[in-house]
Amino acid sequence: MENQNVINEIRSKINIVDIISEHVSLTKKGQYYWGKCPFHNDNNPSMSVDEKRQTYTCWSCHNSGNVFNFYEQIENVSFKEALSALGKRVGVELSGKQNSTYESRYSKYYDVYDLASKYYELMINTDSGKAAREYLKNRGINSDIIKEFHIGLSLKEKDKLINYFKEKKIDISTLNDLGLANNNIDTFSDRIIFPLDDRNGRIVGFSGRIYESKTDIAKYMNTKETPIFKKGLCLYHYSASKEQVRLKKYVIVMEGFMDVIRASTIGIKNTVALMGTALTDDQILLIKKLSQNVYLCLDGDEPGQNADLHNGELLEKAGLNVKVVKLTDDEDPDSYILKYGKGKFEALVEGAINYSDFRIERLRSGVNFNSDIELSNYVNAVLKETASIKDEIRREIILKKLATETYLSYNTLEKKLLEFADKEKKEDNVTLKREDKRRNKYERASLEFVYYMLFNERAIKLYESKKLFFINSSIRALAGEISYYYHNYGTINIADFYTYLNDKKELLATYNDVINLNLNEEVLDATLNEYVEVISDYNIKEEIRRLEEELRKEPNELEKAKIAERIRKLRIGENQYE
Ligand code: GTP
Ligand code: MN
Repeated sequence: MENQNVINEIRSKINIVDIISEHVSLTKKGQYYWGKCPFHNDNNPSMSVDEKRQTYTCWSCHNSGNVFNFYEQIENVSFKEALSALGKRVGVELSGKQNSTYESRYSKYYDVYDLASKYYELMINTDSGKAAREYLKNRGINSDIIKEFHIGLSLKEKDKLINYFKEKKIDISTLNDLGLANNNIDTFSDRIIFPLDDRNGRIVGFSGRIYESKTDIAKYMNTKETPIFKKGLCLYHYSASKEQVRLKKYVIVMEGFMDVIRASTIGIKNTVALMGTALTDDQILLIKKLSQNVYLCLDGDEPGQNADLHNGELLEKAGLNVKVVKLTDDEDPDSYILKYGKGKFEALVEGAINYSDFRIERLRSGVNFNSDIELSNYVNAVLKETASIKDEIRREIILKKLATETYLSYNTLEKKLLEFADKEKKEDNVTLKREDKRRNKYERASLEFVYYMLFNERAIKLYESKKLFFINSSIRALAGEISYYYHNYGTINIADFYTYLNDKKELLATYNDVINLNLNEEVLDATLNEYVEVISDYNIKEEIRRLEEELRKEPNELEKAKIAERIRKLRIGENQYE
């Protein structure tokens, strides 16, 4: 990555209000600008832009950040691309090779995976790779596709990769660390290898598939999780899909490797695969960076359809527009395309239905329209679903269809729909309030203290001199980062700190919680000291609780006495604060 100073320079030369205005109509009210959030289906303006701090926050979907975060998401580009595009606007050219501290820390890992991938690719073209090539050929996968997807092969002997690396004089312990070997034995033996890459297209792991009928071992096997590979963060073919997603303006989500690869053979490349896992929040964020429009195309069987139902809900909640491509029973995209060909599959994608219609269709299936009870249950369920649809036109279409198929009057249906919509609104309000109240005194003190650390050196110094410990690991990590950042850069800028957190995305939510407290920036020493007391007091209570638990479980009398003594000492210490 560019030097932090250059990044901050670019950021400081740009006004976030200008950039956001290019995409959202903003109105100034008081201290902030307000507009409809482009990252979820926003009815009334929930996004505020703080010109002073140069940050934005959506109070509804909690998307927040600085100008880079906004630009990355609205343009579906990486941080680097955002940096370079925005840099150009203010006349700051970036130097050629860009390496982030994160990248360089793990650059050895990327190199090892790259080399391993090249090795596997070589092997599939050797004599020993004949059976694997034959297997792929039988599945309609030719050498062009093998090349395009960098498909490779691990040989039967379990020391091949290790020896290859030994010849290259590369430290074998890294292979163990990266899951390519286990106790100096190759992890993959006799498997077809698919490289897995991250959002920027760098290889971060592999999946190996058996290719001869063996039933006693797992069909697919993945390299283990590492600092650069987290399963829940991975979507197969993500990086390679970017360009086509941008052109077609939607991304198709499939279940497996073979589905994506097969679709590619008929020219459909705006696809990613879940790799058989449940959709995670991180994957949803990644998908959102690709496109606002998602077509779910999971397997046609019952589990696949249920997954469509569940994943569709998660994606809609995240503010994405979701459609469902429905495959016929027991087909997956791979088998469907093989059986029916390109034209039929394209037509299926063309005919994708809105997620809400898909839900209603699922509600309708099996309902006996001659039974009054079944009919009224169905109507109520549909109306309840429809109540959460924001688009009035879609609501009216659904009501009209429902009126036609049930012979109920449109007015009755509409009246009932409004009742459901009203109820939903009230429930929303209740949950919002409940969330507010959930923080106890200790949690408030922790968040507020960290808030003041962002604006006051005194708070940072106090944090350090008191060796303040936060039980919540993200608050603890965030406080550590703030203090580190302060000592490195001499000052803390709220907007630039977002950039700093780019490599520490897991702290972003906590940072937002803190920053959105929106307290005064000034604070009295006495107040800071009060926070410290609340926090320390709570820590001692927690420690005592933990020790008492230990005491209960400890069988050894001598150890018991030691623990009891520690508890007693803590109790005395605790009293000093009261
Ligand atoms: P083929 O059987 O080769 O057609 O693969 P597929 O992509 O159709 O696989 P399937 O639909 O059975 O599973 C979907 C995805 O789940 C796969 O692409 C894998 O990522 C993952 N998966 C399937 N089986 C296993 C397994 O045994 N272990 C692991 N780790 N993942 C698996
Ligand atoms: Mn399959």
